[in-house]
Amino acid sequence: MSKEANLTKSQYKNYFNISQYRNEAWYSLKQIANYFNQGQLDNIENQNFKEKVSSAFSTLKLIEKYYAYPGIDFIHEIEEFYLQEQYEEFCQSVSDLVRSIVSDSYRSNRSATESEEKRKRMLKEDEIQLSQSRDRYFEVIFVDDGSMDSEETIKEKFEYARSEEDEFTYEIIVLSSLEDALIALLFNPNIQACIIRSGISYKSAFDLEEIKPFIAGIDLMQFQDRLEGDLGHELGEVIKEIRPELDLFYLTDIPVDELDTETLSCFNRVFYRTEDLKEIHLSLLFFLKERFNTPFFSALVDYSKKPTGVFHAMPISRGNSIFRSQWLRDFGEFYGRNIFLAETSATTGGLDSLLQPTGPLKKAQELASKAYGSQNTFFVTNGTSTANKIVLQALVEPDDVVLIDRDCHKSHHYGLVLSGAYPVYLDSYPVEKYSMYGAVPLEEIKHKLLALKDAGRLDKVKMLLLTNCTFDGIIYNVKRVMEEVLAIKPDMIFLWDEAWFAFAGFTPIYRQRTGMYVANFLQRKYQSAEYRKEYEENLKSDSPKPLPDPDLVKIRVYTTQSTHKTLSSLRQGSMIHIYDELFKRKTEDSFHEAYKTHTSTSPNYQILASLDAGRRQVQFEGYEMVEKSIEMAMVLRSKITSHPRLKKYFDILRVENNIPSQYRKSGITEYYNKSNGWVRMEEAWAEDEFVLDPTKINLFVGRAGVDGDTFKNKYLMDQFGIQINKTSRNTVLFMTNIGTTRSSVAYLISVLLKIADQLDERIAAMSDTQLKNMERTIKSLTEKTPPLPDFSRFHESFQAVPGVPGGNIRKAYFMAYDETKCEYIRRTECKKAMKNGREIVSASFVIPYPPGFPILVPGQVLSKDILEFFINLDVKEIHGYRDDLGIRVFTKEALA
Ligand SMILES: Cc1ncc(COP(=O)(O)O)c(C=O)c1O
Repeated sequence: MSKEANLTKSQYKNYFNISQYRNEAWYSLKQIANYFNQGQLDNIENQNFKEKVSSAFSTLKLIEKYYAYPGIDFIHEIEEFYLQEQYEEFCQSVSDLVRSIVSDSYRSNRSATESEEKRKRMLKEDEIQLSQSRDRYFEVIFVDDGSMDSEETIKEKFEYARSEEDEFTYEIIVLSSLEDALIALLFNPNIQACIIRSGISYKSAFDLEEIKPFIAGIDLMQFQDRLEGDLGHELGEVIKEIRPELDLFYLTDIPVDELDTETLSCFNRVFYRTEDLKEIHLSLLFFLKERFNTPFFSALVDYSKKPTGVFHAMPISRGNSIFRSQWLRDFGEFYGRNIFLAETSATTGGLDSLLQPTGPLKKAQELASKAYGSQNTFFVTNGTSTANKIVLQALVEPDDVVLIDRDCHKSHHYGLVLSGAYPVYLDSYPVEKYSMYGAVPLEEIKHKLLALKDAGRLDKVKMLLLTNCTFDGIIYNVKRVMEEVLAIKPDMIFLWDEAWFAFAGFTPIYRQRTGMYVANFLQRKYQSAEYRKEYEENLKSDSPKPLPDPDLVKIRVYTTQSTHKTLSSLRQGSMIHIYDELFKRKTEDSFHEAYKTHTSTSPNYQILASLDAGRRQVQFEGYEMVEKSIEMAMVLRSKITSHPRLKKYFDILRVENNIPSQYRKSGITEYYNKSNGWVRMEEAWAEDEFVLDPTKINLFVGRAGVDGDTFKNKYLMDQFGIQINKTSRNTVLFMTNIGTTRSSVAYLISVLLKIADQLDERIAAMSDTQLKNMERTIKSLTEKTPPLPDFSRFHESFQAVPGVPGGNIRKAYFMAYDETKCEYIRRTECKKAMKNGREIVSASFVIPYPPGFPILVPGQVLSKDILEFFINLDVKEIHGYRDDLGIRVFTKEALA
């Protein structure tokens, strides 16, 4: 067997992120250490490996500066073993370390690198206390110009400040520049707090060439252009933008009365150089505890421990009707006692009322608001289906106009029926080859908005409603959309349906494309003196650009998130996040009315507790988990793309397959290819009109001669128990999330390989006729793609204003309650009727699954394109279409 160790510096393009690169560096050092320890190297191998060891050490000495564990001292220690040819110790130390990093066990037991003395001290400590606090391990960066204390002294002082009673354990990383601090934050997910001295410098003193590809995001964020004044304060501002969940402390000499309000509000606390480090240590733990608190979950735990008598309508409470039953005990045993102890409808005794929270639920929602960057956050226990209806009812009224993407979730359409506002449907660009829709181009939004302006109806337009990201992972340039729309309509309300995007706020690259981030960003921008100057100068120029008027513009943004879809929450756990300058003044009351309209008076406490606990999780490990899920997606993409047996039947849809080139200014076409390795996505995400969420992986199965639905059910589910929830005619969609593990990725790849083998066998056994049939199926799935229709129009009887976009969907919906005005017509009979001049107008929603959005809404005229699409649909589940009768339509008389 040839002796190999992988890592060479020029190969970094083969690593998607620094964590892969770092792990590989350690792993290759482990392999080499092993060879040295075995002592069977010839001269050439010996020389070759010596070069590799020195290269691995130089890589690790750079990377490990940004991590407290294992620490630079450990690297010097193992280097010494190596130089002294103590290969056994060298090999053992590196192996222990690799194990502790790969398994993450170092967080609860860092003994692989602890000195003998420290290990002995720890053994004496209380076992339980130790395991608890060690489980809660974090790292802190101390950014210092180095003028006062050495790194050693700083670490010693913190060591001295700690006590055995501390609830959390942490280690300090000392860095000396703003650039190093940002790199550490990008690389190291263990960092939970930053202590920053005033007067630090910008540039790192290290040679960063080797890690350049992994820090490209920092340059693209263009912070350098904004950095003026004290860089310590500026660093705090930047961190608040990229990792807002972290606690920030400022160390300065500037007298209190000279500290500006921005500095004071940027940091959790300001300390003076002369102050005791014990105080900083206590503050670190105090603020961490604040984030760690889960007010509602903890209240529920406390409640469940109290003895109570239940004399209200909830026999299941405390398991009373279950554990004494002869016939239901298995149900109780399956779920365990706690869930029943926590089943209650109490709103007092330490608990709270969701409809009027004043205690732990209020606090839990406030903490969620902080975590998700909103001004107000509300928990919803019936999914985003309900969250959407609440927001629509709260904000729009009969006669208002709402610009809405036609392929949005059905809850919006129903919300419009309830509120009586007129929808103006916006068409997404089609991706015909794969039978899916993309997202709504900005041109389409502006075109419809300007048409309403020309018709004198701009004052009626209230809201723009878009889905970000779409099921297939198309993500809007939220900032650009809002800026350009506000230039036309400065008080527009935005509802971003982020049902699939709750995780996005926890990593900087995604965060810049979320509703809450952009709302906050634009509010600051439009209120700034610089913007006012830019606006006034623009007005004076020869060809002024459309810009929002700073005196008129109002930031009013709502996002709805199915927390349960992408983060840790029980099913139906959802949140509404609000960033609305006019909320208190205009909307608060109507919002509460709408909230009460749709919220159960018996909300499920387990769901609420999971939203609270899930919030804690994302604040501590959201960054790490989301980055990992992106990494898992990238691994899956690269493995499927480059595996010859998989390539034979399957293709992963690339960025260019999902997003036409006119929306990709960066020119990015894919995230990975075998010859060039990883393509950095930062530039595209900063600029492009649409980007593709890499965690949504569409697999094209048309070349396998199998349609999406069959592939999902007969292959993935029936044979291998793999669940997915979306298919198109010729694709299936896989998603990675914060629960995706390496082994599940490996399992999926092995399943696809098995399916490829089955396909090989099936084809090999086919007769000529069967082969011909198969070819026909493949041709149909890959070439004959039915066109995807746009929204047609509302019938004259339901148009808000004749000839102007916008329809009275509510009128049509309720008119259909009168059965004398409706009849049924089969889809196959429609063609003839239309040929004879009949306008067929739907009386109900017709929603096929997939794609899961209405191809007809009440009051909509059936067009030739929609009919063709409908006839060609090969899905079995079509809500609003009765196999025995057909589509419910209005009679000619009803429309006369
Ligand atoms: C875009 C979008 N919005 C809203 C929803 C409804 O979310 P929930 O399942 O949380 O009710 C979905 C469900 O799939 C969705 O895809």
